[in-house]
Amino acid sequence: MALQDLLEVVPAGSEERSLVQAIDWTRLPRHVAVIMDGNGRWARQRHKRRVEGHRAGIDSVRDVVETSARLGLEVLTLYAFSVENWKRPPTEVRTLMGLLKHYLRMELDTLLRNDIRFQVIGRMEDLPGDVQKELERGMERTRHAKGLVFNIALNYGGRAEIKDAVQQLLADVVANGQDPSSITEEAISARLYTAGLPDPDLLIRTSGEMRISNFLLWQIAYSEIWVTEVLWPDFRRRHLLQAIADYQKRDRRYGGIGGA
Ligand code: IPE
Ligand code: IPE
Ligand code: MG
Repeated sequence: MALQDLLEVVPAGSEERSLVQAIDWTRLPRHVAVIMDGNGRWARQRHKRRVEGHRAGIDSVRDVVETSARLGLEVLTLYAFSVENWKRPPTEVRTLMGLLKHYLRMELDTLLRNDIRFQVIGRMEDLPGDVQKELERGMERTRHAKGLVFNIALNYGGRAEIKDAVQQLLADVVANGQDPSSITEEAISARLYTAGLPDPDLLIRTSGEMRISNFLLWQIAYSEIWVTEVLWPDFRRRHLLQAIADYQKRDRRYGGIGGA
C-alpha cells in the first residue's frame, strides 16, 4: 500500500488531508506500538459501564489497523491485555475476551484482503480455550500475508517476556557448553516474542498516562514516545497521522550528538 491508498479515504481539503501531506513518506516509522488506554474513563464520562468503553474501542482498533496498512507500516503492535489485567473484575475480563473473539471473527476477511499478518504476543496458553482457538485460526489463516504484521499483545508482560527469553537462552548456553560471556544482545532479542521484527520506532499511549505499564520493556530502549490525552475509543486515523508527523520532527540521537 502507499500514499494513493491513503488518499483514497482522506477527503480533499480536510484536516486529515493536510496531515497526510505533512508526512514524509521516505521516513515512516517501521514499527508503531500503542498502549490503548482510557476505555474505562471514556465510559465513565458517558455514565456507561466500563465494558461499553471496551466495546467502543473496537472501532478505534479497526481504524488504526486499516490506516497502518494503508500507510505501508511494517509492524503495528497493540497492547490489549496485560498479565496484570487479571486483577480486574471477572465480568470485565470475560467481556474483553469475548470482544476479542468477536473482533477476530468480524475482521478476518478484511485482514486477509489487506494482506495483514495477524500475530499474538504474550502468554496465549493461559487464555480461555475458545479464545485461543479463535486466535490460532486468525494466525493460521493470515500466516502467508506479506503486508503489515499486526501484533496483538495479550496476557503480555515485558518482564515475563525477558525472563522467558533469558531462561531459554541459558538452557541453550548450557546445552552447547558455551561460555556465559558469549551471550549477546542479539541472542536475547532473538528469543523474545518479537524476534525478527524491528524494535518500535514510535510508542503511542492514549489517555495521558506517562507510564509504560510493563510493555515491550526491552524493545522500546530507543523508541520515541508520544502521549495524547485522547481516550482510546476516541482515537482515530488523524491522531495516528499526527503522531507520525510529530515523530518525524524528533531528532533521534541514540546517545550521539544528533544530525540536524
Ligand atoms: C484500556 O482501557 C483497556 C485495557 C487495559 C484492557 P482501561 O480499561 O485501562 O481504561 P481506564 O484506564 O480505566 O480509563
Ligand atoms: C495498560 O493499561 C495495559 C493495556 C493497555 C492493555 P492499564 O490501564 O492496565 O495500565 P495501568 O494500570 O494504568 O498502568
Ligand atoms: Mg487503563
